[in-house]
Amino acid sequence: MPRSDLHAPVTDWYTRAARDLPWRRRGTTPWGVLVSEVMLQQTPVARVVPVWQHWVQRWPEPADLAAAAPGDAVRAWDRLGYPRRALRLHGAAVAVVERHGGRVPGDHDLLLALPGVGGYTAAAVAAFAFGRRHPVVDTNVRRVQARAVRGEALPAPALTAAERRLAEQLLPDDPAGAAAWSVAVMELGALVCTARGPRCGDCPVRDRCRWHLAGRPAATTPVRRSQPWAGTDRMVRGRLLAVLRGADGPVAAAELAAAWDDDDQRGRCLATLVADGLAELRPDGTVALPGGAP
Ligand code: ADE
Repeated sequence: MPRSDLHAPVTDWYTRAARDLPWRRRGTTPWGVLVSEVMLQQTPVARVVPVWQHWVQRWPEPADLAAAAPGDAVRAWDRLGYPRRALRLHGAAVAVVERHGGRVPGDHDLLLALPGVGGYTAAAVAAFAFGRRHPVVDTNVRRVQARAVRGEALPAPALTAAERRLAEQLLPDDPAGAAAWSVAVMELGALVCTARGPRCGDCPVRDRCRWHLAGRPAATTPVRRSQPWAGTDRMVRGRLLAVLRGADGPVAAAELAAAWDDDDQRGRCLATLVADGLAELRPDGTVALPGGAP
């Protein structure tokens, strides 16, 4: 299918149907876009919105976050999950101040060199904050590509070189059109072309979607199961961090024991929090978020 067949219907649909998300509003800074993309990597939009708003109000520029303690970033991360991202954003803010005079760079390779910024985030910031031409390929985009162009129900478990090439082929030549296409196709995957229960009746390209035209054949790759949560180390780490976040200062071991009573698991999880730099053990045996007052 000629690539231009998809552009107009998808970008027109976006202007009608897109969510009004705060980081998409005019006036959002490149820093605000970077923060949103890091938060959105592993957390649903609805949970990100209030935390993002609080974060950019409190730290409107990278220099504001760079001047704060890493523990403040961990506290403000709240319950977004995968909290090492908060430390990496803090590290990115420090690097932006040290390397780029406090301004988030627009160049893809400079973005990629920042702590915690991978290929997806570098492309998303270069495209959405700076209007540069880069394919932005997240899981939603991959699913739309798999269905509309390849006729497959779901993409492979991990991004393939063929998918990258296809994303590059689908990208409009002009940088502004490329960024508009990327955010539109991402939104189509998030709202209509969903993994489970796609709403093909609402899809602007159902008349040219190879998967739809083929009768929506079932996936041939196994569906990825969501990760278990109850009782896992990840959950216990979250509970321990919630205690540290809720406290004004260092907390006693007994307070952590109240959060999870299995001594072995609690000890193991606390050790990994310390190893990750998310918590600090004090000489008096108390535990605190990193970089706070002594
Ligand atoms: N808009 C721009 N990037 C986005 C993302 N990763 N998720 C949702 N909306 C977005």
